[in-house]
Order: sequence, then structure tokens, then C-alpha cells
Amino acid sequence: MFKYESPTSLSLKTGGFSLILKKAKGDYIWDNKGKRYYDFTSFFGVSLFGHFNPFIIKRVKNYFKEKPHSMGDLFPYEEREKLSEKIVSLFKNKNLSVTFGISGTDAVELAIKTAFLYTKKEKIISFKNSYHGLSMGILPLTNLKHFQNPFKKFLKNYSIELKFPEKEEELEELEKRLKKLNPSKIAGIIVEPIQGRGGIRIPPKGFLKILYDFCKKNDILFIIDEIFTGFSRTGKDFCFQYEIDFPDILCLGKALGGGFPLSACVGRREIMKVWEVKGDPLYATTFLTHPVSVISSLAFLELYKKERPVKIVKEKEKIFEKHLLKLKDSEKIKDIRGKGIMWGIEFRDEKFALKVWKILIERGFLTLLEGEKHNVLSFVPSVYFREKELRKALKIIFEM
Ligand SMILES: Cc1ncc(COP(=O)(O)O)c(C=O)c1O
Repeated sequence: MFKYESPTSLSLKTGGFSLILKKAKGDYIWDNKGKRYYDFTSFFGVSLFGHFNPFIIKRVKNYFKEKPHSMGDLFPYEEREKLSEKIVSLFKNKNLSVTFGISGTDAVELAIKTAFLYTKKEKIISFKNSYHGLSMGILPLTNLKHFQNPFKKFLKNYSIELKFPEKEEELEELEKRLKKLNPSKIAGIIVEPIQGRGGIRIPPKGFLKILYDFCKKNDILFIIDEIFTGFSRTGKDFCFQYEIDFPDILCLGKALGGGFPLSACVGRREIMKVWEVKGDPLYATTFLTHPVSVISSLAFLELYKKERPVKIVKEKEKIFEKHLLKLKDSEKIKDIRGKGIMWGIEFRDEKFALKVWKILIERGFLTLLEGEKHNVLSFVPSVYFREKELRKALKIIFEM
């Protein structure tokens, strides 16, 4: 199977077996042999309201009847304007403007380019274990060495890597490190408020505020990447809201598209003005704001308003806490951490983590392995995930 695809991005082999998707509905998926699985991944955090959400799908289906495609930056449909308005309406600060992308990587790239254009400075601070995308432009910021190293000598090294603090004591260290840097060279800081693919890592309280203050003081743009954490996943609409009002630039993706590819770089209006140029726009891509993605995203935002998932997530967080923390005394487990509906079990041994992951799949549960060592089993389900299924999955781990 997949004989004619290069091995570039098929990771089936890692697990030593294949799972070919046939259909998905809610939190369940079926493979091509008819086997059913419970999905704790929401497919990389995309399906916040479950797969094939009927509310979103109905809108998309209706739309197909008349508008198949738009022309990127040149001749858009009017719904695109509505979408940017709806995105801005999510925030207290209305003095914002939106640039769309197709992938999360696009949104990050837009944010970084904005920082370079606006500040005319050349360095970006990013954090150890961060994940912001894998394009050549963004790779210097994705500080997971197995992704960076094969391309290291070809990358433009514009990134300054700092330690991502995970304990309160490390904040002081961070402040000292920041003080030693030369701010006249630094265009921006980019950070995930909770690291996802880096291993579900949670910084201590006060982390974002330190970065925010440092940026304000030194004319540096503060960029928050909420491509994973955004839209209630951590128990607030956006995770930055635990500590600050709004960064200079916010990157959104994954859930925003309602299951279709769409991302957004949301920035303070006066900053985003740097993109105003005569002639060809400095940013465009053929499938930009494809109408299906736009309609799906509008439907997602409407559902988001109706469902008010933050409240649901707060309840679900308690379920995670109750069940996951029971595993804490297992000697195979190094740490269990999470917030909202974004949790990770860090195993001491990476081979054992892989074994757990595989057995869970065999027994009908989908999770993911995160972190540089792939030893953090993650649970990033939809807001509707069922306690009963979590209990079943954890029982399997408990008995291993
Ligand atoms: C925090 C974060 N930023 C950026 C990205 C890149 O997004 P995409 O894979 O849509 O390009 C991801 C993807 O996992 C992510 O988790």
C-alpha cells in the first residue's frame, strides 16, 4: 500500500502496522477493515467538536452547490471578510487585523515576517522543545533537534534558543538570560503557551507576563502561537488569557478551520500595516482562503459561540485529573501533566511508550507520542470526549 508515495511523511512504519482510515464520526473512527477506534487525538487537535460535525458539514455541503473555488488574494468571496470580522470579535481588543494562511506554518511564517518588517531587526527568540512548523523558514524556530539537524547547515540561523521553563525556579534564570541579550537585535519572541508536540510541557505561572514585559520594554514583538492551544483547549478561550490581555501577534490554526485547512495570523492593526505595498502583495498563495475552508471556519466559529466550550473543558479537565493522576505512582511513569483537554503521560522509557501507544491502537484507542524522545503519550481529544472511554484506555496502561 502507498507504493508510489515517497516515505517523506508517512509515519505508519514507525508503529510497524498500518491503519487506513475509512470514516470518522464524532470521536470514533473506522479503518478500512471495519474496526472502530476511539480518538483521543482529535486528529492533531483539529476536530474540537468531533469529526464530521453535522453542523459544520451541512454548511459546507450547501456551499458546494455554487462556489467551488476562489482566487487567493485577488478575487475573494465576501464570506472571507465576514470571517476576519468574526475572528477579531473573539477578542476584547478590536484594533486587530487578520492575515489568513492555509497551514499553521503559514501563520507562523507571517508572524515572523511581520516582526522582521516591522522592527527591521534580525533575531527571533524561541524556546527549547518548541514546535512551530517544518518549512525551511520556520525550522530554525522548531527546537526539536531530530527535525532541525538534517537541515542544519542549510538553515538561516535567525533564532536564539532559550530554555522553556517548567518549574517556578526557572523563571529567575530566564529573566537573567533575557537581561544579557542585546534587544537591539531582537525582532520578536515566539512561544507556545503550553508546548504540544514538544511533550505537553506547561510553564509556571508568570512566564508569559515576563516575556510580554520584556518585549514591551525593548520594542520587540511578542508572538504567541496558539495553533494547538487555542479555542478552549486549555480551559480559556485562548491560553494567553491566563496572563496577558493580548500579544502583538497571535497565530491560530488547526481547530479554526473546522476540519478544513485554514490558519490566521492576528496582529495589532498598526503592526500589520507594514504589509501595505504597491504592486504585487508580499504574501499570497494559490489556495488562500479556499471558500470551503472559509465556510467551514465560519460554521466552526458559530458553533463555538453556541457551545461555549470553555465551561465543558473545565469539567473535562477534572475528569482527566481524576483518572490520570491515579497512574502517577507507576514506576514506569516519570510525569503526568496537562491543562483543560490537553494532557500527557511522560514515560521513563521511550520503547515502553511506543509499546503502550501500539497496544492502545490494537485495542481501539488513538493517542499520539510527543516530545523529542517520543516518550510522552498525549491525549488531546474533542471537547465531547467520554469519561468511559478514557477509563478503558487508562485501564490498559495500568495493566501493562
Ligand atoms: C504550536 C504549533 N504551531 C505550528 C504548527 C504547525 O501547523 P501546521 O502543521 O498546520 O503547519 C503546529 C502543528 O502541530 C503546532 O502544534
